[in-house]
Amino acid sequence: MNNWTYDEFKHCGVDYADPEQAEIYDSRHQKFRNDEQEFAGFLSRMPFEHHQELTLLDMGCGTGAAAIHASKHFRMIYAVDVSEAMLQQARRKAEREQRSNIEFIHSGFLSYEHRAEPVDIVSTKVALHHLPDFWKQIALMRMNAMLKMGGILYLHDVIFHFRPAEYQRKIDRFIAGFEAHAGKLFKAEVETHIRDEFSTFDWIMEGMMARAGFEVVSIHPSDGFVMEYFCRKAEEISIPYF
Ligand SMILES: C[S@@+](CC[C@H](N)C(=O)[O-])C[C@H]1O[C@@H](n2cnc3c(N)ncnc32)[C@H](O)[C@@H]1O
Repeated sequence: MNNWTYDEFKHCGVDYADPEQAEIYDSRHQKFRNDEQEFAGFLSRMPFEHHQELTLLDMGCGTGAAAIHASKHFRMIYAVDVSEAMLQQARRKAEREQRSNIEFIHSGFLSYEHRAEPVDIVSTKVALHHLPDFWKQIALMRMNAMLKMGGILYLHDVIFHFRPAEYQRKIDRFIAGFEAHAGKLFKAEVETHIRDEFSTFDWIMEGMMARAGFEVVSIHPSDGFVMEYFCRKAEEISIPYF
C-alpha cells in the first residue's frame, strides 16, 4: 500500500470494529428499518430475471441482513466488510439459517480484490459514506471493475438531496425524527454521522458514478437524506488494484 492511501480500517464516526457496537447493531437498527421490506423493494426493482443464476457482492455488509436475504434468491454472495466484529455477527446468523452460498470476507472498498468471475450485482448499503469523496470515487471505479458489463450497482445510503442553503433546518428535522423513533442514543449516532462521517450531496455522487462508468437506471429518494440508486455498468473502467 502507498503511504498516501486512505486507511479504511480505522473507522470514522461510529466504531463498527467495537464488538459491543456490532452486538447491538441489529436491535438498534430494527427500530427504524425493516430488512425484509428493504430486500423485497430491492428485488422488485432489480432489472434482471432468472435470479437463481446471479452473483452478488455486498460491500460493507455489516451484520449480513442483505447478504442472507440475497443468498435465498441468488446463486452466490460475496459479503465484504472492514469490521471483523460485524462479520462475526453476520457469520453467526448465516450459520443459524444454514446458508452455504455466502463467502464472508474481511476487506473493504479500497482493498478487496475480487478474484472470482465478475459479478452481476454490486450492492452497498449505508457504507460508502464512510469514505471521503475522493476515495468514494476510487471505490466506485473499483466496484465497476468487479462487475460484468451491463451489471447493476445498487447504492443505498445517506446522500443529501435538499437545497444546500436549507441544511440547518433539514438536518435538525432529520435528527429529531430519529430521536422520536429510536431514542436519545440513536440521536447521538445520527449526530455523529453528520459530524464525523462523509455523506455527500446527490449531484456530487451522480457526477462520481458517471465518471466511474455507471449510467443511472433509477433513483429512489426518500426524505432529503436516504437515497437508492440502481445504476448499470456502461463503460469498462480499467484501474489497477492496489
Ligand atoms: C451502517 S453499517 C451498514 C451495514 C449494512 N450494510 C446495513 O445495511 O445494515 C456500515 C458498515 O460499513 C462498514 N464499512 C465502513 N467502512 C468500510 C469500508 N471502507 N469498506 C467496507 N466496509 C466498510 C462498517 O464496518 C459497517 O459494518
